[in-house]
Amino acid sequence: MAKVIRGGTIVTAADTYQADVRLEGEQIVAIGQGLDTSGAEVIDAAGCYVFPGAVDPHTHLEMPFGGTVTADDFATGTRAAAFGGTTTIIDFCLTKKGEPLRQAIAAWHEKAANKAAIDYGFHLMIAEANDQVLDELQEVVEEEGITSLKVFMAYKNVFQADDETLFKTLIRARELGALVQVHAENGDVIEYLTQRALASGNTDPIYHAYTRPPEAEGEATGRAAALAALANSQLYVVHVTCREAVEQIAQARERGWQVYGETCPQYLTLDISYLEKPDFEGAKYVWSPPLREASHQEVLWNALKSGILQTVGSDQCSFNFRGQKELGRGDFTKIPNGGPVIEDRVGLLYSEGVHAGRISLNQFVDLVSTKAAKLFGLFPRKGTIAVGSDADIVIFDPTARRTISAASHHMNVDYNPFEGMEVQGEVVSVLLRGEFVIRDKQFVGQPGAGRYLKRAKFHRP
Ligand code: URP
Ligand code: ZN
Ligand code: ZN
Repeated sequence: MAKVIRGGTIVTAADTYQADVRLEGEQIVAIGQGLDTSGAEVIDAAGCYVFPGAVDPHTHLEMPFGGTVTADDFATGTRAAAFGGTTTIIDFCLTKKGEPLRQAIAAWHEKAANKAAIDYGFHLMIAEANDQVLDELQEVVEEEGITSLKVFMAYKNVFQADDETLFKTLIRARELGALVQVHAENGDVIEYLTQRALASGNTDPIYHAYTRPPEAEGEATGRAAALAALANSQLYVVHVTCREAVEQIAQARERGWQVYGETCPQYLTLDISYLEKPDFEGAKYVWSPPLREASHQEVLWNALKSGILQTVGSDQCSFNFRGQKELGRGDFTKIPNGGPVIEDRVGLLYSEGVHAGRISLNQFVDLVSTKAAKLFGLFPRKGTIAVGSDADIVIFDPTARRTISAASHHMNVDYNPFEGMEVQGEVVSVLLRGEFVIRDKQFVGQPGAGRYLKRAKFHRP
């Protein structure tokens, strides 16, 4: 049945205005004031914002990591994402050296197909760029619609690739029209600092941060940007945390290089002191790169505001405190890295960004939805409210207040890193391709209703 969302304030990356939205089938078919409601279900959005469904460009669901597997899979993770206003995710498909890429992609489809409640695409990890892999990439980009490739510059002896792999991937990506993403930290330096810390008996969670200094992130970011320029290619730096990395991206962009950057809510709102929480609770705050001194937060906000960074991803990678984070008691290197953020990404950015006066409403939509859709080949199908776009809509009450808590969140994990934080604004209802997924704060979606998205080739936004 057709639907008309009536009386809300539509917000896109470009505009804010009062209008109704008519949805038919899976698409938006009309936008205007006082739209005809005949034959349609009317959804009252008075007093609410009407945002495009948010696009989370950085998730890890059902991912094996650190000797365990993330607590959220595509069922629980996408359900939680929907509660938070996200209707599309792009998840990282891991690969192993020597394994055909097609096999790795098939395994990721298997994880997602009957579970995802929202739409999804995949980025593909490149572990080594041998001739077979470089050949296979044509099919990956053109048949699978996977148009972003990820290279890890850290996690030595696990995911880390060398500069040759990064450089060859950048060149191949330019030829095929793909965007190369990097986890930018100097893994060799980190490995040395880590072994030295352990040898000195420094095993607490805080040493995870001390052994991954901002300089190691800044150096890798600058190196990746230089290699991207040398390859005349395009680069996206995931989870930027610090001034050192922001400066490298700013400099690269000033030189006209195609370098883009993402940060995450945890780096905007939490700081290194959380790693010192007693009773091993600091392990809950172990991310790579780590949380930084609070002074870096203003640098990140300014970078978002001024366009040096373009997106905010969740880097959803959840592990329970009990039984998973606890694997690292007595040895911080065994703490699985990552945290549960998929549900609170949009709400935190609205509250700490728009409500706190740091970014505009339109910048907020751009950061959580539109720019990711553009960079990753989904726009204008996703990431905006326009006639012909998918009817992915969030109805958001800016007057509501709520407190983030593991007791009320929907992620499959026993803590929330933002526990007790009060946020302004609340997602009321969410539609995916014209159907409710969240209705009046209740989940009414279906595992398996999410659709795999083949994405277009990279175009400079
Ligand atoms: O600590 C993190 N960021 N965990 C997820 C994996 C990654 O590096 O993105
Ligand atoms: Zn990473
Ligand atoms: Zn990640």
